[in-house]
Amino acid sequence: MKNPVHVAVTGAAGQIGYSLLVRIASGQLLGPDQPVVLRLIEIEPAMGALEGVVMELQDCAFPLLKGIVPTCDLAEGFNNASWAMLVGSVPRKAGMERKDLLGINGKIFTSQGKAIQENAASDIRTLVVGNPCNTNCLIAMNNAPDIPKDRWFAMTKLDENRAKTQLAIKAGVDTTEVKNLAIWGNHSSTMYPNYFDATIGGKAATDVITDEAWYKDDFIPTVQQRGAAIIKARGLSSAASAANAAIDTVANIVRKTPSDDVFSVAICSQGEYGIEPGLMYSYPMKSDGEKLSVVEGIELNAFSKEKVVATENELKEEKAMVADLLP
Ligand code: NAI
Repeated sequence: MKNPVHVAVTGAAGQIGYSLLVRIASGQLLGPDQPVVLRLIEIEPAMGALEGVVMELQDCAFPLLKGIVPTCDLAEGFNNASWAMLVGSVPRKAGMERKDLLGINGKIFTSQGKAIQENAASDIRTLVVGNPCNTNCLIAMNNAPDIPKDRWFAMTKLDENRAKTQLAIKAGVDTTEVKNLAIWGNHSSTMYPNYFDATIGGKAATDVITDEAWYKDDFIPTVQQRGAAIIKARGLSSAASAANAAIDTVANIVRKTPSDDVFSVAICSQGEYGIEPGLMYSYPMKSDGEKLSVVEGIELNAFSKEKVVATENELKEEKAMVADLLP
């Protein structure tokens, strides 16, 4: 039997955590022959709730789950971790400005970045889910300068999954028919689902769904506002689908991408497509199972260029607001 891989999850007693942990422990994150140890990180007031989550995990008797470490100590939480899933963050409250939210969460991700660098395993990779996830990731990454920048990711896969499903519904096909659909930029309402490059059943999406107004007036706003629509309907933000996207993201990173597809994740830009280097920007990506690369050579038309720059500008603004947290 393989040695267990330690997976650290922050915000472990939260909504996403509740959906995510059972999937990791059952083998859906790292595969059916990979034992795991869960390192569950919470803040002190949530330790009681976390105890309940631990009891439930124990009661699943998962064969692959070799240990559970519930803690509010970051050094203990990230110790020996090969994956860190940073889910916990402080939600925006009424009257709170984006700058305030960035500042509050910025402090959390500063200390988490440092603790990851000091305590995690040498092969640590980090996926940030907690919002604003691109900029939270930027802060953690910059506070862990010894960890290579290609080990940091912020989640836009949920947006990709949402976009694929909208195209599939409109075209009347299975979601598996929709490929090559990538999210560009920030995980926020400025994100850009580039449908011009997507395929449906192997054909250009724009040849299958020819209604241009639908893309602009329905598809893009639906994808961009989906999170808000779920909060309105459920009274709570998306959790099962967010946990599912986190599992999908790791699978996309560690498995070879099929030749006719791409996936979305925000990575540390090296200036691809003219984006400011160093921003955590979501691109169309491919993995060879070990290394990731940004898909090159995509022609962006004037409409796409405008969208790609608008979401970059938002990321630049966010970066400027947290400049004092970036050493
Ligand atoms: P939640 O409020 O149910 O849970 C958050 C948990 O994080 C709470 O248990 C809280 O105690 C914990 N927490 C807060 N500060 C922490 C810290 N410093 N260290 C460790 N734990 C801490 O929220 P939920 O629904 O689980 O969402 C978590 C985050 O994921 C939110 O920021 C949400 O906006 C974000 N999200 C991101 C998505 C994406 O696509 N990137 C999609 C959906 C949600």
